[in-house]
Amino acid sequence: MCGIVGYIGERKAVDVLMGGLKRLEYRGYDSAGVAVVNGGLKICKKKGKVGDLSEAFDLTLIEGSLGIGHTRWATHGAPTDVNAHPHSSKSGDFALVHNGIIENYAALRERLTQNGHEFETQTDTEVLVRLIEDFQASSGACLIESLQQALAHVVGTYGLALVSAQDPDLLIAARNGSPLILGVGENEYFLGSDAAPIVEYTRQVVYLNDGEMVVVRRSGYEVRTIDNVLLDKEVHGLELDLEEIEKGGFSHFMLKEIFEQPTSLENAMRGRVRLEEQRIMLGGLLDVMDELKNADRIIICACGTSWHAALVGEYLLEGLARIPVEVEYASEFRYRQPILRKGDVVLVISQSGETADTLAALREAKSRGTPAFAICNTVGSTIARESDAGVYLHAGPEIGVASTKSFTAQVMVLTMLALKLAEGKSLSKEELDGYLSELLALPDKIRRVLDQNDEIKKLAQMHRYASNFLYLGRGPNFPVALEGALKLKEISYIHAEGYPAAEMKHGPIALIDELMPVVFIAIRDSTYEKVVSNIEEVVARSGYVIAITDEGNGELDTLCDHVIRVPKTLEFLSPVLTVLPLQLLSYHIAVLRGCDVDQPRNLAKSVTVE
Ligand code: G6P
Repeated sequence: MCGIVGYIGERKAVDVLMGGLKRLEYRGYDSAGVAVVNGGLKICKKKGKVGDLSEAFDLTLIEGSLGIGHTRWATHGAPTDVNAHPHSSKSGDFALVHNGIIENYAALRERLTQNGHEFETQTDTEVLVRLIEDFQASSGACLIESLQQALAHVVGTYGLALVSAQDPDLLIAARNGSPLILGVGENEYFLGSDAAPIVEYTRQVVYLNDGEMVVVRRSGYEVRTIDNVLLDKEVHGLELDLEEIEKGGFSHFMLKEIFEQPTSLENAMRGRVRLEEQRIMLGGLLDVMDELKNADRIIICACGTSWHAALVGEYLLEGLARIPVEVEYASEFRYRQPILRKGDVVLVISQSGETADTLAALREAKSRGTPAFAICNTVGSTIARESDAGVYLHAGPEIGVASTKSFTAQVMVLTMLALKLAEGKSLSKEELDGYLSELLALPDKIRRVLDQNDEIKKLAQMHRYASNFLYLGRGPNFPVALEGALKLKEISYIHAEGYPAAEMKHGPIALIDELMPVVFIAIRDSTYEKVVSNIEEVVARSGYVIAITDEGNGELDTLCDHVIRVPKTLEFLSPVLTVLPLQLLSYHIAVLRGCDVDQPRNLAKSVTVE
């Protein structure tokens, strides 16, 4: 949510900044802007996407080798040119970009107004700029000290970067709650909200922690705490290839990521599913496996698609490992005084590893002495670093705002965890063996579903004008119904709801008519017959039924209007297959409706504000 870039070195800063903003655009695209130091400060900013910024200004004319940039997801103040970052001091001496929320901005703004400051924007960020100016004026302190003083008065979250017109060899950044990484090159340094804008130039990075700031000059950098204690920070190596964050011939990142799923799941299983040894190996949880095995309750906290994966996890962990599970919206968990007892374990799931609510849930658990583990995709992310132990998805970077390959990889990791916890307990060796073989067969089965892309596109053509969709499923495929509905609404703006199939009778059935497609996940599992009855109920009311069933099942062909088949697998493993047609259906409908699939309106990939 909001992307920040910064550069200091010998290259033309504006090129590095604009390239970086393009790579960070998935974090927000309400406005974009850059500030470059070259004699004075040259600031260009514009409502809209990064492309709108380069159309509005001839950026090629901007010389200078030091600058900052920002792509915004609006919180305080509408997405307008004036509210766009960077924000500069009245004198034009310095400019600042900010990701996060200054929660006490109203009180600060009132105090600063009384002190004679005037405000030009509706943003919380401008309050921080005026506060720094205020300290500069009242104490005569330098920019770094004034920033430190200002941050001591700020309540809220920030990842921020500053440049000064007075000092062409100074880039400052600070972090509290919003991610920030320093890329270390040779006599050049890069700042990024994540590694995407950095990896093109260097693989050496320093992760800033909350409460830390970095002062960067071409000759080197110093990391300090905000209250000025010098720190010795480790330099990490990035394990990320440039091609992983490029479209690679696909028209959208989302489509590329859907088609990556056979490989991303192979990567998620590599070295972990060990058929010959008849076991699962999850290295990151090795030391805490007993704690998990003996847990009285596992509480899973997540948001969005990760929350849907968590719900699948509930079916898996309870069904296979027989451990009680509760799934919480991370945003609710912290504020409802959760009861945490000895024997409880908290597990958070996050693709980005930066979602503010999920991070807060993790911290809440840790502060209450409850073991807190994580399932994350982004290596080195805050959640990955702060959790007591965890497992990476190894799905590779996910850029499309609508999560696809992370969902299946999360479900895969949860499946492996459930099997690991069930090993020698609730599952016999033979049963485990059956699961392991089926897991390894999944990537090829996924390929077979993806081969039906053209057929699903035709289905999308038929339903592109629908105003409402209903998705129904049962058991571990109920969360898949939720995920199918979420995918459709977030990228095509069609209203869609997911329900447990049997719950349909308690409300959604009233909506059914011949204009509303109803998507049933109806694989031949333990509840198949019940789901078929629900299909009959919809058909009896002239509903249009699209069924996802398994190969070899011809029974639904006459009953339903359209049938999509996925290869047969074990019931608990089916979500990884049944979700694929739903991802493709949403993708094609959105494209046909002319929607911006990778950057749907109002959304952002990494939600770093509460
Ligand atoms: C945003 C994204 C979703 C994602 C959710 C949780 O809403 O648009 O795709 O599922 O955040 O993100 P996380 O990174 O924690 O999985």
